[in-house]
Amino acid sequence: MKKNIVLIGLMGSGKSMIARALHESLRIPSFSIDSMIEEQEGRKVREIFELRGETYFRNLEHAVVKELSVKTAVIIDCGGGIVLNPENIALLRKNGIIVHLQASPETIVARLKGDTSRPLMNVPNPLAAIRAISEVRLPLYNQADLTIDANDPSIEGPVAQILSRIK
Ligand code: S3P
Repeated sequence: MKKNIVLIGLMGSGKSMIARALHESLRIPSFSIDSMIEEQEGRKVREIFELRGETYFRNLEHAVVKELSVKTAVIIDCGGGIVLNPENIALLRKNGIIVHLQASPETIVARLKGDTSRPLMNVPNPLAAIRAISEVRLPLYNQADLTIDANDPSIEGPVAQILSRIK
């Protein structure tokens, strides 16, 4: 069985860009959980949070994880909060290698400056918010099979590391 590549990490850690590069290099399908939710709901993630709340979004996220976790040989680009439900990681691990793209709160804030698409960052002090999120999630992200430093804006290093691990 060819394993899935499951990308996890904080928002802005480069998951989507790295997923695209892996898709081009490996020529295997790539799925973005956030995009699937947006397509299904006909709304952007930010609007889903505003109109229906976070719990509603997390339930949708879990349903998409169930659907994707049975696939093989695909790339799965997860939203940053995927680790909050332990069942998600257990499901994704069945057929997948879990890759954590690790970036510091400072990197994330600098990268997402001016980007209003992340509801959890649309707060007066985004650095404090991402530090708090990071503290809660780091032990959860550490369940990954592979952790890669994603602080450098270039994605070449992380992509090469992932490719060398799976080939
Ligand atoms: C979230 C991350 C976002 C998106 C939503 C919640 C989070 O995805 O799912 O805004 O809780 O960290 P990205 O990690 O792709 O930005």
